[in-house]
Amino acid sequence: MTPSSHDPVPGPQLSRKSLLKAAALAGAAPLLLGAGTALARDTAGAPELTPECHDGDAPTIEQTEGPYFKPGSPLRTNLAVPGTRGTPLTVTGYVFGRACRPIPGVLLDFWQADTDGAYDNTGYTMRGHQFSDAQGAFTLTAIVPGLYPGRTRHIHVKLQAPGRPVLTTQLYFPGEPRNSTDTIFDPRLVMTVRQNGPGREASFDFVLDVPQSPSPSPTATGSPTASPSPSPTVSGGTWRVGASYRVGDVVTYNGVAYRCVQAHTAYAGWEPPNVPALWARI
Ligand SMILES: [Fe+2]
Repeated sequence: MTPSSHDPVPGPQLSRKSLLKAAALAGAAPLLLGAGTALARDTAGAPELTPECHDGDAPTIEQTEGPYFKPGSPLRTNLAVPGTRGTPLTVTGYVFGRACRPIPGVLLDFWQADTDGAYDNTGYTMRGHQFSDAQGAFTLTAIVPGLYPGRTRHIHVKLQAPGRPVLTTQLYFPGEPRNSTDTIFDPRLVMTVRQNGPGREASFDFVLDVPQSPSPSPTATGSPTASPSPSPTVSGGTWRVGASYRVGDVVTYNGVAYRCVQAHTAYAGWEPPNVPALWARI
């Protein structure tokens, strides 16, 4: 974060990433460049197009998972089911690779405390996973998480780009009194947040350690050297944690066959019957 420390003004020296992101934003969300009625990317008055993704910047840092992660969360972007108490919160952003190009299909698994600072360790309240869209964008609808002893206000998330390792980290809120005393807090993970009516709008862009070519090459996917064999691989084995699966791979789990529909590295809790976004029963 620290938007002003790298690109104070997106002027004539707009980086390639700035342009890419600006183009993505313009295409995906034309409301951004309006009168400031939409997203929280204008904390300093002028739109800040590259608050997190800078040329040469390191990937988003990793943080402890904490004691309350629970695998097998439902596929959903809205954690605030009817009746959920608390201050409405939306978190929007993009997932980028090392060249600051958006990454579609990234699995984002969010979990957080409720407004009273409690985690649901028996069910899946305030837990859910989703995938970044074709522009690498994600939107989480939730409530502002409550405080609990020993921690400042935060949201947990695990991210996994297709076929890549899991990044576990946390997101923070600016101006929280406990930010200065929480030893896990890191200012690089502070979201941009602003008030909007009764709720808050936050934004944060992740940068994953995913190699990317410096410029988009739309024809690359058709190159035999740029992609693995398109023919389905029938592994014939049973599903296992740690294995990398490609679209079309077939595994068995508890005697049932599944076909991979989203390339990924298998993670505990993402067993085929639990994650229909990754596996289709055949
Ligand atoms: Fe936590």
